[in-house]
Amino acid sequence: MAVHVVDHPLVRHKLGILREAGISTSRFRDLALEISRLLTYEATKDLVTEHKTIEGWAGKVEVEMIKGKKITVVPILRAGLGMMDGVLDMVPGARVSVVGFYRDEETLQPVEYYVKLAKNIDERSALILDPMLATGGTLLATIELLKKSGCTDIKGLFLVAAPEGIERVVAAHPDVDIYTASIDEKLNDAGYILPGLGDAGDKIFG
Ligand code: PRP
Repeated sequence: MAVHVVDHPLVRHKLGILREAGISTSRFRDLALEISRLLTYEATKDLVTEHKTIEGWAGKVEVEMIKGKKITVVPILRAGLGMMDGVLDMVPGARVSVVGFYRDEETLQPVEYYVKLAKNIDERSALILDPMLATGGTLLATIELLKKSGCTDIKGLFLVAAPEGIERVVAAHPDVDIYTASIDEKLNDAGYILPGLGDAGDKIFG
């Protein structure tokens, strides 16, 4: 597995605003979408293209088009929905697979409550979307669910990730790639990322 920190001035700037305690819901939503577009740009760099000849304004012209595996985006409810439209702006042909988990506040274990995967998911590349990778429990559960459905090409896109969660996922699923705008410092005793964003779900849904 490779962990990619999408280190770009625009990402750093937008993430800085996202961390402000008093940020409004609408500003948080806008910035989460903007950063998600930039993460998608990085996470899709390995897509294979093929040459095609089309009719251009001055006659035939050879162009490149995306070839091969199709994509499904997998927003993790709730907070992952706050990234989805940004990703779909970049890959409008992607199918959407929805996975619902909430994290039990006492045990920090993920609790599954909804799953609806795209048809033929075993033929698609999956882009898991969640603003936060904290203990890694939710991501592990999602990866296991996708692999059981036959998915073999899986990436995860996050706004912020904790080193503890990354380490856990790396150990269990070395084949899964992680793209994050930041690897933050650590988790606090309650399992929240520091410096983090606070509760991204609450900030997106108000
Ligand atoms: C948050 C976040 C992740 C999960 C990360 O969701 O969006 O899904 O916690 O934690 P983990 O890495 O320790 O598993 P939350 O439970 O707050 O649900 P929500 O998206 O419905 O707000």
